This record gives sequence, C-alpha cells and structure tokens, in this order.
Amino acid sequence: MGQIYVFDHPLIQHKTAMIRYKSTSVKDFRELVKEIAMLMGYEVTRNLPLEDVEIETPLSKVSVKMLAGNDLAIVPILRAGLGMVDGFLNLVPTAKVGFVGLYRDPNTHLPVEYYCKLPDDIGRRQVIVLDPMLATGGSAAAAVEFIKNRGGTKISFVCLIAAPEGIDVLQKAHPDVDIYIAAKDSHLNDHAYIVPGLGDAGDRLYGTK
Ligand code: PRP
Ligand code: URA
Repeated sequence: MGQIYVFDHPLIQHKTAMIRYKSTSVKDFRELVKEIAMLMGYEVTRNLPLEDVEIETPLSKVSVKMLAGNDLAIVPILRAGLGMVDGFLNLVPTAKVGFVGLYRDPNTHLPVEYYCKLPDDIGRRQVIVLDPMLATGGSAAAAVEFIKNRGGTKISFVCLIAAPEGIDVLQKAHPDVDIYIAAKDSHLNDHAYIVPGLGDAGDRLYGTK
C-alpha cells in the first residue's frame, strides 16, 4: 500500500504559505514553486538505491556510497508540473524527464490528454510524477495510468497542495503509489478548485490570467 506524506518542514510550510498570497508575483511564484519542489525532492529521493564505489581522495583509497545508476524519471503533468521540474533536476541532474499533457475540461472537470512522451526504459526507472495541484485527482490518476500502460511500475506522485477528495481518488485508483504533499487543504469548491488553495497554478506560474 502506498504511503501519504504531508511535509511538516518549516521551510516548506513557509514557502507554501507564500505562494497562496493572491499578491505574489508571477516571478516570485515561479521561484517559490521551484524551491519547494527542491526541498520536497530531498525527502522524495530518500530511498534511491546506493552502491559501493572505490575512490581515491588526496590521502587514501576509500569505499564510498554513490547513487546506483541513473534510474530516475521525472514526469511533470503539463503544464503546471513543469514549474517543479528544475527543483528536482537541481538535485538529480541526470534524471530523465518525460511529459504527460493533460488539461481539465472546464465543464466536466475531467482530464483530457493531449501529449505523452516518456523515456523508452520507463519500466526500469523510479518515476516521480509532478503536479502542484491534486484537486479532484482525475489528472493525477490518469497520468499514473498512462505511465503504467507504458510499462511504469515504481511510481510516486508529488504535489504542493492537495484536497482530501483528490487524495482519495488517487489512492483508490493506484494504491501502490506514494503521495507526497506540501500542504493538505480543506475541500473543493463548486468549480473543483482547491479551497483555500492558491487559484490556478498554471496561470500563476505563467501569467496567463
Ligand atoms: C491543473 C493542475 C492539475 C489539475 C488538477 O491543471 O495543474 O493538473 O488541474 O486538477 P484535478 O485533480 O481536478 O484533475 P489544468 O487542468 O488547470 O491545466 P494547466 O496545468 O495546463 O493549467
Ligand atoms: N487546478 C488548479 O490549478 N488549481 C486548483 O485549485 C484546482 C485545479
């Protein structure tokens, strides 16, 4: 059974509070999302496999632990998930990056797929799906389904703000997936927006409204 992790680190809480302000500029919003993603990435990558490697320091030979291979794939859900990619790549620059393009139909709130490009060897990689918002859970569940259909098996989902409804939907659809959340909010409104939330993450990242 997948685990749910809600972060209690003070830096993550503080920066997540700052992206909620309606007055936060696009530039600050984008920088904060990247920083939060990097801080979360530190914990999300905690179980990456290590191997023993013999190296030489200026003083002696020593056996040290290093990451075993380049086994990570980061998959942002377009478009808002893109804002979290650089934070993760700062930590693991060798990770492969795949993309799933989904948007929510404004009337039905159901996800509509428009793009999917994943590393060929996705099946052997630990996959980290990124999207700032887990609202109804439709987009996250659909993205994980695409990845599984293309061979993905070890999948985690990382978001900044989650509604209880979305957590439930994702967990029921994919009980094997760990879910990492910076802040768990109260509920969804009639338009399936997270309350109190931060509004539309894609628009706030890219200044489109
Ligand atoms: C947002 C967000 C998620 C989705 C969450 O994307 O980035 O992908 O909504 O909602 P859900 O849990 O109810 O599916 P949006 O559809 O606004 O597309 P965008 O990223 O292109 O703005
Ligand atoms: N997508 C967003 O960007 N924000 C929400 O609150 C819900 C879906």
